[in-house]
This record gives sequence, structure tokens and C-alpha cells, in this order.
Amino acid sequence: MKKIIITGGAGFIGSHVVRRFVKQYPEYTILNLDALTYAGNLENLKDVETSPNYQFIKADITDEQHINRIFSDFRPDGIIHLAAESHVDRSITSPLDFVKTNVVGTVNLLNAAKNIWKEDFKGKRFHHVSTDEVYGALGKTGFFTEDTRYDPHSPYSASKASSDHFVRAYADTYDLPIVITNCSNNYGPNHFPEKLIPLMIHNIIHHKPLPVYGDGNYTRDWLYVVDHAVAIDLVFHHGKNKENYNIGGFNEWKNIDLVHVLCNLMDKKLERPEGESAKLITFVKDRPGHDLRYAIDATKINKELGWKPSVTFEEGLAKTIDWYMENQEWLNHVTSGAYQKYYEEQYDLK
Ligand code: NAD
Ligand code: TYD
Repeated sequence: MKKIIITGGAGFIGSHVVRRFVKQYPEYTILNLDALTYAGNLENLKDVETSPNYQFIKADITDEQHINRIFSDFRPDGIIHLAAESHVDRSITSPLDFVKTNVVGTVNLLNAAKNIWKEDFKGKRFHHVSTDEVYGALGKTGFFTEDTRYDPHSPYSASKASSDHFVRAYADTYDLPIVITNCSNNYGPNHFPEKLIPLMIHNIIHHKPLPVYGDGNYTRDWLYVVDHAVAIDLVFHHGKNKENYNIGGFNEWKNIDLVHVLCNLMDKKLERPEGESAKLITFVKDRPGHDLRYAIDATKINKELGWKPSVTFEEGLAKTIDWYMENQEWLNHVTSGAYQKYYEEQYDLK
């Protein structure tokens, strides 16, 4: 494959996928297609922006005409689709934005791919990047497998589930060559500080309250973002046509325990007395429809493609904290302006 469009390449995971492909495959041309919403930031790609095999185009995936034009000009062999509205709390206040980008935007991309590839699908692939949240919530035990029935609860996960169904429908109806990956919670550098880990790091640095929803006994499985990018690379190149692959970190944490770990690590980093940051923990109103637990069974990708996480949580958190400490300018940029309004509306905190 020679020409690849990566949508959402200026976002958190997308920027790591772009970096991986630009560096790993100098013979490919990578076109980063991104609308640069509040979550998109070209600063994430400073180190690859002058690479000869990298291009960027600002475009909204909901703009059908623009997307069709880009596809017929660039003529991609592959699409790796990450562009999305990605934050559950925002989906609760603005569900239609999620329908537009995640559902309509995905269908626009599927149509554009189908139109340029006609029936000639040899060497072509549409890789849809999705989430484990489509499977709903687990109780205290059990894991999501690729066969777990979809049961989304939030407007975000419902919109992602819908987009997954459309991708599968295009494979069944038009024979479009597709793969889908469903991954657990990512963390790492360039993560927008509206999500749990970067929000806590940001607030600890600034001595601000650490808002823990409900009793904090909600469980997530955490994967270092670079390991996700490696998994996407493997599935894109070697995954079986029309199949889905679960990706996970084998790394479950209750939110409250994770926040305590972050507090302890940050106290050391910031040379604060032990226990200082944990005093900032504040239990706040729970998220409506809050999923109790997510846990991924990633046996299939491990057995078929030999993938497993390479970074331990300890290493990953240390790298992540270091990155945020060294990139406070990035943090200041993304938390100025509109972020303040979002934060005040979302959290009733001083
Ligand atoms: P993000 O919010 O950090 O980035 C999303 C990117 O998409 C941004 O660059 C944004 O500008 C772009 N975008 C948004 N709307 C667009 C539009 N209409 N047209 C073009 N570009 C648009 O998201 P992320 O956390 O990097 O997630 C990337 C993908 O991975 C999403 O599809 C998400 O559902 C999925 N995913 C995320 C996680 C996670 O833990 N963050 C886990 C599993 C799957
Ligand atoms: P988040 O990072 O938003 O990811 P997701 O909801 O997609 O799993 O949240 C991770 C967990 O942390 C989730 O159980 C909600 C919780 N949470 C808080 O307790 N406080 C917060 O301020 C945020 C953003 C999340």
C-alpha cells in the first residue's frame, strides 16, 4: 500500500498513529485529514510535519463534497479512521454532535472509499478505529470478547456502535474491505486534559481539586497509546478482512486507586510532602449512565498477530507524567480559552 489517509491524525491517538506510520513506512504517503476541533492540535505532530511522506489537510468528515474531492484527488489505498467526538461527558450534553461526526462522518468516508475503489478492492482497506465502550458495561467479573453483544449506554458509545454497524454493513452489502479494532482506555502524551488521567495530572500540577465521579469504584482497563498505535499498524497490515479485533492493556484499575497512584507519583516528581496531592481528591456528582467496568479479552490479536502491550503501567505512567511536566506550554495552550468554559460547566468546583 502506498497512500493512506489517517483521519483524526491531529488528535491524541491519531497523532501517535500518524507518527508511527510516517516513521515506519517512508515509502508510503500519509495524508492526515483532520478538522482541528478543540481536540485536534498540530503541535502534536511537530516532529514529523516536515517529513517528505507526510501531508496534512484540514477537512471535516461530515462535509460530503469536500471528502469526495479529497478522496478522488489523493486516491488512497487505505484509510485509518480515527476522527471522532471522543468524550463521554460531552456526549451527554451534546449528543447530536456525536451523531454528526461519528455516524454521518463515518458513512461519508465509507461512501467516498466505495466510490473511488469502485469494485476493485485488491490491496485496499478501510480500518475503523473503535472502542470497547460499544459492548456496554461489565459487572465485577468477565471480559469483552469480539463476540460480545453490542450494548452501548452513553451517546458516545451509541454513536461509535452505530458507526461500527455501518462499517460492517458496507462490508456485507458492497464487499468493502474493512477491519475494525475495539480498544480500551488509552493514556499517554498528547492526551487532552478532559479525560481522567491528563485531567488529574493537570489539576495536581495546579493544586486544583481532583474530581472523582461517584464513589470512584468504576473500573477501566488502561493501555499506553503507543502500544495501541502498534496494534493498529498490525491489524491494518495483517488483520483478516471483515474481522474485528479487541485491543486491551490487561491492566484494570478502579478510578480512585488510579488517582491515588497518580497523586503519589506526582508528589515525588513535584517534591511535595507525601500525601499532599491526595488531599485534593474531591468526590463529585456521578456521571449519568456511568458504566461500572470495562475489561478486554485481547486473546485474538495476541494469538493471530502476536501483539501484546510492551509498556508496563508503571513505565507508561512515568513517561506520561514526565511528558506533561516537560510540555507545560502544550498544556497551557490547550487549557486556555474554550477549555475554561467547558471545565466550569462540567465541574461545580472552585
Ligand atoms: P481525540 O478527541 O483526541 O481526537 C479526535 C480527532 O478527530 C481530533 O484531532 C479532532 O480534530 C478530529 N475530529 C473531530 N471531529 C472531526 C470531524 N468532523 N472531521 C475531521 N476531524 C475531526 O480522540 P482520541 O482519544 O484520539 O480517539 C481517536 C479515536 O479512537 C476515536 O475514534 C475514538 O472513538 C477511538 N478510541 C479512543 C480511545 C481513548 O481512550 N481515547 C479508546 C478506544 C478508541
Ligand atoms: P474518561 O477518561 O472520561 O474515559 P471513559 O469515560 O471513556 O472511560 O473517564 C475514565 C473514568 O474516570 C470513568 O469511569 C469516569 C471517571 N472520571 C472521573 O471520575 N472524573 C473525571 O473528571 C473524569 C473526566 C472521569
